[in-house]
Amino acid sequence: MEFANVLLEKEGAVATLTVNRPKALNALNRDTLLDIKAAIEACRDDAEVNVIIITGAGDKAFVAGADITFMQEMNALEGREFGLLGQSVFSLIESIEKPVIAAINGFALGGGCELAMACDFRICSDASKFGQPEVGLGVTPGFGGTQRLPRLVGTGMAKQLLYSGDMIDAAEALRIGLVNAVLPVDELMPYVKKLAARIASRGQVAVRFCKVAVNEGMQTDIDRSMTLEADLFGLCFATQDQKEGMKAFVEKRKAQFVGK
Ligand code: CAA
Repeated sequence: MEFANVLLEKEGAVATLTVNRPKALNALNRDTLLDIKAAIEACRDDAEVNVIIITGAGDKAFVAGADITFMQEMNALEGREFGLLGQSVFSLIESIEKPVIAAINGFALGGGCELAMACDFRICSDASKFGQPEVGLGVTPGFGGTQRLPRLVGTGMAKQLLYSGDMIDAAEALRIGLVNAVLPVDELMPYVKKLAARIASRGQVAVRFCKVAVNEGMQTDIDRSMTLEADLFGLCFATQDQKEGMKAFVEKRKAQFVGK
């Protein structure tokens, strides 16, 4: 599938979506957001894709934010619509029942940090920089940053980053829990692809149920979320993958999952 602002490649059961506007440090205008949406929907609907990686083109940026040139002359209603569009695309990423990993290869600022935070988890290169610099432009974050950042790093650290607009480096992002691992630039994609392939080799119904359980569970009280976990756990016993996974363990061989 071809997109003007996004590359979509498949290797086995892993799809890599690359935001591809390197001259603008992969900044997000409306067309780029719509391309990301279409590419994610294509991955969602492709039964061969188990795991999605999102990264940025070039050697400088993951995504340097929403496109400031594009936003400059917007009125209030257009700003609201643009915010709602970005939010809906990122909520799609968060809610599709396939794991999405952010492979951050440089600046992840504003809408770029928000895109990374909508992914299930983040791995970055040691050259990466993170931040929500919107207050320096006279606006708040608009693609979920005020909501996902405190949920990831706690309200105190989130407020410091949101109010100051300061950038942090990869080591600090690791320390505050914004990313799970920091790799030398050359090792980033091989590491993420290997991890994605490992996830893609597991029982996919179970992997998807894990995503649903965590996402739903974090938005509800512990009693309800435990009930949800028990229901999903029980439902796994209706799958071929559960039969195969447990049989393979008992027979001391590698399981051959079919994702059903
Ligand atoms: N929007 C539009 N263009 C951008 C951009 C953005 N967010 N970020 C970078 N660019 C463009 C630059 O204008 C420049 O274009 P030209 O070559 O045509 O001049 C090109 O990308 C390269 O950028 P720089 O020359 O600035 O590169 P640098 O290495 O000197 O600086 C940077 C890199 C620190 C990331 C700097 O580009 C920067 O500060 N970018 C803006 C970051 C930002 O404020 N992001 C938040 C946007 S608002 C937002 O995201 C709102 C929201 O939540 C929805």
